Amino acid sequence: MEFDWHSRLHPSVADAIGQTPLVELSRLVARAGLSGRLLAKLEYLNPGFSKKDRIGRQMLEDAEAQGQLRPGQTVVELTSGNTGTGLAIVCAVKGHPFVAVMSRGNSVERARMMAALGAEVALVDQAPGSRPGEVSGVDLALVEQAAQRIVRERGAFRADQFRLEGNFRAHYRHTGPELLAQAGCAIDGFCDFAGTGGSFAGCAAALKERNPATGCFLVEPEGAAVLAGQPLTQPSHPIQGGGYAIADLPALRPGLVDGYIQVSGAEATAATRELARTEGVFAGFSSGANVAAAKRMLAGAFAGRTVAVLLNDSGLKYLSTDLWPG
Ligand SMILES: Cc1ncc(COP(=O)(O)O)c(C=O)c1O
Repeated sequence: MEFDWHSRLHPSVADAIGQTPLVELSRLVARAGLSGRLLAKLEYLNPGFSKKDRIGRQMLEDAEAQGQLRPGQTVVELTSGNTGTGLAIVCAVKGHPFVAVMSRGNSVERARMMAALGAEVALVDQAPGSRPGEVSGVDLALVEQAAQRIVRERGAFRADQFRLEGNFRAHYRHTGPELLAQAGCAIDGFCDFAGTGGSFAGCAAALKERNPATGCFLVEPEGAAVLAGQPLTQPSHPIQGGGYAIADLPALRPGLVDGYIQVSGAEATAATRELARTEGVFAGFSSGANVAAAKRMLAGAFAGRTVAVLLNDSGLKYLSTDLWPG
């Protein structure tokens, strides 16, 4: 009998993170009149309903191994909700108090879920002029200031997803190799909407290690594509979890980025809704951004080839937004 990860007994829910299903989106590809294959990794089936559970576990395991995290020490992180949820889960299992520092611009489901998992949630007001549901780089800078203050006050460990190697390592050691093992065919292209860039970099490094010709594309919001070298004209967008217009992402490594794709908020929204209706896949805005970008790849240089994406978090996290009209 084939080894089945999910049928085995796990000592804790933290051990059930990862090994998510890979699904072919053939209905969506056919509907768009495209040729080629689109493979989607259902990261929303992680225990915290996002790919960020993976980095929550990896960052804390690395810190324990390096003697940087003491038993019972408080953990603090800046989060759009998903990393915080992953950390809240792993902290609950390992017995660490956890403080999640989050912008008021992120959806309320996220704060409620972290609180339910035992986290203390510190909400930070958005900058004047920012819109709820649209968290910009300026809003994020305010959250960063608050996170640094709380770390100082509590003598806490900062699970800094923008700087810690565990972010990259979670995807390099697990997500990327899982994609390769599950695909059963060559993966010609990969694209990913960047927040910290950790998922992109970790997966791209693993894919290119197997086949250096794999084309890896960074996805950014239209008007905030600073990694692609474009001017910042539209800092606000609905694609929560990334697109912060930060030009220098420590997780990104030279040689991994073969190109850049820009996706508008409307395009990401439409693709997320299409995913739900056409494929029965209930994911969030950034998953739609990845699918919209992958469709562009299949319509262009990757026609007839295989492109893989991550579907980052669950559509349930956006019930309070206008993603799902009533
Ligand atoms: C929903 C969602 N999409 C995309 C991202 C970006 O992932 P990464 O930080 O690995 O670039 C995040 C990060 O928090 C996220 O929560």
